[in-house]
Amino acid sequence: MEHSFWHSKWQKNEIGFHETEGNALLVKYASFLLDDESANSALKRIFVPLCGKTRDIGWLLSQGCEVVGAELSEVAIIQLFEELGAEPNVTTTAKGKAYTKDGLTVFVGDIFKLTSSDLGNVSGVYDRAALVALPSPLREQYAAHLIAITQCAPQLIISFEYDQNEMAGPPFSVNEKTVDLLYSGDYHIKRLERSMLKGGLKGKVDADNLVFALTAK
Ligand SMILES: C[S@@+](CC[C@H](N)C(=O)[O-])C[C@H]1O[C@@H](n2cnc3c(N)ncnc32)[C@H](O)[C@@H]1O
Repeated sequence: MEHSFWHSKWQKNEIGFHETEGNALLVKYASFLLDDESANSALKRIFVPLCGKTRDIGWLLSQGCEVVGAELSEVAIIQLFEELGAEPNVTTTAKGKAYTKDGLTVFVGDIFKLTSSDLGNVSGVYDRAALVALPSPLREQYAAHLIAITQCAPQLIISFEYDQNEMAGPPFSVNEKTVDLLYSGDYHIKRLERSMLKGGLKGKVDADNLVFALTAK
C-alpha cells in the first residue's frame, strides 16, 4: 500500500483494525515470547512492527518487557503515548523521529528504513495485523527485512485467513502456506491456533484467526 493510504486512514480515524481491549490471543500465547526457555535473551525486548497505537504495547510493558515499535503515522504515535498517559521524549534524526518513554521506543517512519543498529537487540517480535496489512510483493520484502533487522528473533504472528475473492485487503489473507513460504527458510514454524473470528472480518466475510510461533533454525 502507498504510505498515503495509511496516513489518510489515521487522519480520518478510519482505524477499524484497532482493538480497544487489546488482543486476547497475545495474552493467551505471550509465554512463547516472554518465557526464558523460548525467547533468546534474559531481557525481554519485544519489537512490534507496524504497531499503530495498539493496546498490546501497554500490556507488554505491564509484563515487564521493553517494547520497540515501528509505525508510519505520527498521529498514531501521539495517540499511543496520550492513551498510555506518558509524556514522550521526541528526538529527530535524518531518518525520522523516535518517541521514547521509560521502556518504550517507537520509531516513526517507514519500517524499511530501520536498520538492526537502530533497533538494537530484540528478544522477540509480536506481529499482529502487520504482515496481513501488506500486499503480497511488499510482504516478501517485509519478511526478509524483519529477519535481517531482528537477526531472526522468535516471532509470534497473528494473521487472518479468508477467501480473498470475497474482499480486497487490507487486511489480506495470510494462510499457513504463505507463512511457510516467507519464513520456513529461516524459522521452524508452529501453528498454535486456528479459530473462527467472531462476527467475521469487518462484519462481512467469514475468517479464521491463525497464530504462529516462529523459532530460528
Ligand atoms: C492494520 S494496522 C495494524 C496496527 C497494529 N499492529 C494493531 O494491531 O492495531 C497497520 C499499521 O501499519 C502502519 N504501516 C503501514 N506501512 C508501514 C510502513 N511501511 N512502515 C511503518 N508502518 C507502516 C500503518 O500506518 C498502520 O498503523
